[in-house]
Amino acid sequence: MLSRQSTGILKKTSNIRVLSMFTRNKVTLPELEWDFADLEPHISGQINEIHYTKHHQTYVNGFNTGLEQMAELQEKLKKDPSPSIAREIIELQQNIKFHGGGYTNHCLFWKNLTPEKHGGGQLPEGRLKDTIINQYGSLDSLIKLTNSKLAGVQGSGWAFIVKNLANGGKLDVIQTYNQDTVTGSLIPLVAIDAWEHAYYLQYQNRKVDYFNAIWNVINWKEAAKRFEQEKIIM
Ligand SMILES: [Fe+2]
Repeated sequence: MLSRQSTGILKKTSNIRVLSMFTRNKVTLPELEWDFADLEPHISGQINEIHYTKHHQTYVNGFNTGLEQMAELQEKLKKDPSPSIAREIIELQQNIKFHGGGYTNHCLFWKNLTPEKHGGGQLPEGRLKDTIINQYGSLDSLIKLTNSKLAGVQGSGWAFIVKNLANGGKLDVIQTYNQDTVTGSLIPLVAIDAWEHAYYLQYQNRKVDYFNAIWNVINWKEAAKRFEQEKIIM
């Protein structure tokens, strides 16, 4: 997901010309493991295409721009260590949080979706399944709880099924607003987008139908893999 561009620059130091290499890293859209139409009839190909090529791309661009602006502000702060520059940095952090969250959340989202023909909706045997049964009684109960959190999003937001390292690795369902993501001790296993752009073209005002349908294409194999980790590896 990181594209690396190397640039060579000639720099004069004490009469010695040295080649200084630096690497500029930018995030990019992740590669999808399925075609846009593969999640039908649960999520239309048109939604996936627009969601990925337009919405997710916007977060990618915004995050990269925000990081570049941050580097500029850090340079400015070195020359002028003042509250006014500090305020600019704080303001920019909100922007980075939004676009960085959007970039990250959508990477999680695409990866935790998979077509039915590839096992979408199927929870494999193993430790994750055992933990779900232990804590919630059944997968259906966990889905119901997550759907109630999704339905509770007023405006735009997300719901995450997480492994909570601060709670002995137990599962939790976390709801966030806007593009706020889960970090630190919360390992995201499943991320579900409750923004209108994720469903409106197909479901219009029937967002509950979208919340019910998406479980048919959830990649539980990916969730089980994440459950075995102490940090998110993507
Ligand atoms: Fe989205």
